[in-house]
Amino acid sequence: MALDPRFLAVAVEAALAAGRLQRHYFRSDLKIEKKGVIDLVTEADLAVEQDIRERLARHFPTHIVLGEEAAQSAPTGASPFRWIVDPIDGTTNFAHGLPLFCVSIALEVEGLVEVGVVFVPMLDELFTAERGMGARLNGRRLSATRESSLIDSLLVTGFPPQAADRRGEQLAVFGEFLGRARAVRRLGSAALDLAFVAAGRFDGFWEHSLRAWDVAAGALLVEEAGGRVTDFSGGVFDNFGGQLLASNGCIHAELVEVLGDVRRRIALTG
Ligand code: IPD
Ligand code: CA
Ligand code: CA
Repeated sequence: MALDPRFLAVAVEAALAAGRLQRHYFRSDLKIEKKGVIDLVTEADLAVEQDIRERLARHFPTHIVLGEEAAQSAPTGASPFRWIVDPIDGTTNFAHGLPLFCVSIALEVEGLVEVGVVFVPMLDELFTAERGMGARLNGRRLSATRESSLIDSLLVTGFPPQAADRRGEQLAVFGEFLGRARAVRRLGSAALDLAFVAAGRFDGFWEHSLRAWDVAAGALLVEEAGGRVTDFSGGVFDNFGGQLLASNGCIHAELVEVLGDVRRRIALTG
């Protein structure tokens, strides 16, 4: 059955409004609190999520909303429709005045993400995808790269603040890819990383301990741009599983192999 076109339209409306709010707060005298030792939340995160929730509730009062900063609006199963929202992905960048952040909004229907929108206000870039309909950047169809050689690939990763106890493993994997790829970047926004894989700016991205709101929209963007998204072993990707390996598809098997080798080595040597 065709998807209601209002889903994408409302996701876009909410993402553009979120971008306006982000710009309003960006580089202002922000109230910042710590959720953990290095994990921040600003008044902008809260205001943007509130605004998105109000817009979604106005259009779709029975839908569930799962956002990073507030409790899920209704129990899972109360509706087949669940919005998954990260009001600011890249909060640390945002709080430091670094213009690399975005808003991420996805709609799950019966557990499957059908719509994904990532808006990057400082670049004025709107990434959109509907399952089976391709991914777009400001309306223009996107394709992941066709690069098939790891040594000619540009990769990106992240170091999740919620997994600071695994820095050794993260650095070992990072170091291995530094030697195997053209270069490895670390931008600080998983949703942006995924949107950039979809746009062909990166060939691959990996990170663990991610949350559903970091990845739900971006993973659909990558798949709809012809790329591939799995867990670190090449198994089925789950938004709630934490592990994410995204690529153009062509270098995927090699990425899985390198990740597996390094992780086995660490398990053996401790
Ligand atoms: C974080 C960003 C970052 C990633 C972290 C996420 P937040 O989200 O996506 O790139 O490394 O794992 O938590 O806190 O900025 O919404
Ligand atoms: Ca996030
Ligand atoms: Ca966030």
